[in-house]
Amino acid sequence: FDFDLVVKNGFIVTASDTVRADIGVKDGKVVLLMANIPVPDGCAVIDAEGGFVTPGLIDSHVHIAQSAAKSLGAKSADNWTTASQSAVAGGCTTVIAFAVQNRGTSMQAAVDAYHDLAVNNAVCDYSFHVIVTDPSEEQMHIELPKLIEQGITSVKIYSTYPALKLSDEEILNTFYAARQYGVTVMVHAENSDMIAWMTRDLAERGMTEPWHHGTSRPPIIESEATNRVLALSELMDCPVLFVHVSAPDAFKVIREAQTRLMSVYAETCPHYLLLTAQEMKAPGFEGAKACCAPPLRENPEDRERVWENTVNGTVTVVSSDHAPTKYHDEFGKQLGLTKNPGKNPRGDFRYIPNGLPGVETRGPLMWSEGVCKGRMSPNKFVELNCTNAAKLYGMYPQKGTIQPGSDADFVIWRSPSARKTSKVTVKNLHSACDYTPFEGHDIEDWPVLTILRGKIVYDGKTNDVVAEPGYGAFLKRGKSSLQGPRNKWLSDWRPRYMDDQAKANGA
Ligand code: URP
Ligand code: ZN
Ligand code: ZN
Repeated sequence: FDFDLVVKNGFIVTASDTVRADIGVKDGKVVLLMANIPVPDGCAVIDAEGGFVTPGLIDSHVHIAQSAAKSLGAKSADNWTTASQSAVAGGCTTVIAFAVQNRGTSMQAAVDAYHDLAVNNAVCDYSFHVIVTDPSEEQMHIELPKLIEQGITSVKIYSTYPALKLSDEEILNTFYAARQYGVTVMVHAENSDMIAWMTRDLAERGMTEPWHHGTSRPPIIESEATNRVLALSELMDCPVLFVHVSAPDAFKVIREAQTRLMSVYAETCPHYLLLTAQEMKAPGFEGAKACCAPPLRENPEDRERVWENTVNGTVTVVSSDHAPTKYHDEFGKQLGLTKNPGKNPRGDFRYIPNGLPGVETRGPLMWSEGVCKGRMSPNKFVELNCTNAAKLYGMYPQKGTIQPGSDADFVIWRSPSARKTSKVTVKNLHSACDYTPFEGHDIEDWPVLTILRGKIVYDGKTNDVVAEPGYGAFLKRGKSSLQGPRNKWLSDWRPRYMDDQAKANGA
């Protein structure tokens, strides 16, 4: 045997199994899983001390140095170095961030610009989803196939935010092309006109404190848009992933469609599992720290519905939706105050940038609240935080599992008897953001080590990121390996490319 690393004394956890075995690694790849692997001379050894070894986590929804955040007045707190350092310190070895197509520009230009930001700066592996703002014929049918060849195989679309939102017709154009080329479509589903109407009315009545961000967006805003976009995807027979799902009725719509065997996927985030709208009612302007879209929900029972749907199979992936804006920064979460000095001492929700930091806390919170507290098995944790993201976004089995041939990306967690409770505090985090919405939250365990392609990138004993910026590599992704289109049509209509193919085949 020839290895350069052996991980010993761990329980290897995949989405399907937990096995007591050692892991042999050569050139950054897993080459052998076997009990008591003999260690060759000169080979490094990591002793997992009876703890769990999961695949490196994947965060498939992070906003890093994203320019379109400017539409909300936000300046991203993190650059690629601090965001990826924060990622690995929370056990995450792969992130997929967003490259925004600004209106009137090409998707390729967006991808090129975000490559420039990430290259030489990331300490974890990475890729991009394109946020599509112009699904024109040229972009969808000339540029998109070229992006797929470059390994960019997913897009995100919005039904809200003036700078980003697509009309129903544009959403149909996107689904049409995505089905044709096998692209994963992520959807941010909120009803834009309902939000605009409520926001105008609340503002006219002076109801602009941070928590009225939530008043302006009750759960029906999310469930209506989810239902509508689902209908658009059904018409096109195109698989769809709803991101950051928070409202019980949105989960109902998704689960009902899954029961009808539609290829519908859902993502949720730790903040919808662990926080409520109470956070937005913190004294002074502090509530601005919890301002995100969809908003944290009022009712603690809604949180329980999110847990149920996370464990019962409705949810496919858990991500952080890391979208950090500094609180103490004139461009940051304080913007709600600075735009209205003196007018409303509690700020104005219309100007508070949406989004929360969370790439570092996602894994430890999900492990603590999910696995350590008995809400889910270690295997379910791996499915939600590693494997399904790898499958959905075309990285499996290079990423998202531990098997011969996959990248040697691991997180080592303590055995149950060695766990020590601690508290989340921004002081220990590696993001450049100056707060965490989980400050003071209990943590049952934090990664002991994060390993990326056979190298330690984070040492939990000292809380140090030890990888150099630039170690992280761009990942060329393939197509989703989850259930694709089902060939279920709602009338005699078929996409033209299918009719053309049928004719070419002599049908
Ligand atoms: O509030 C949020 N989620 N901000 C980030 C942008 C987005 O839509 O995910
Ligand atoms: Zn979104
Ligand atoms: Zn987001």
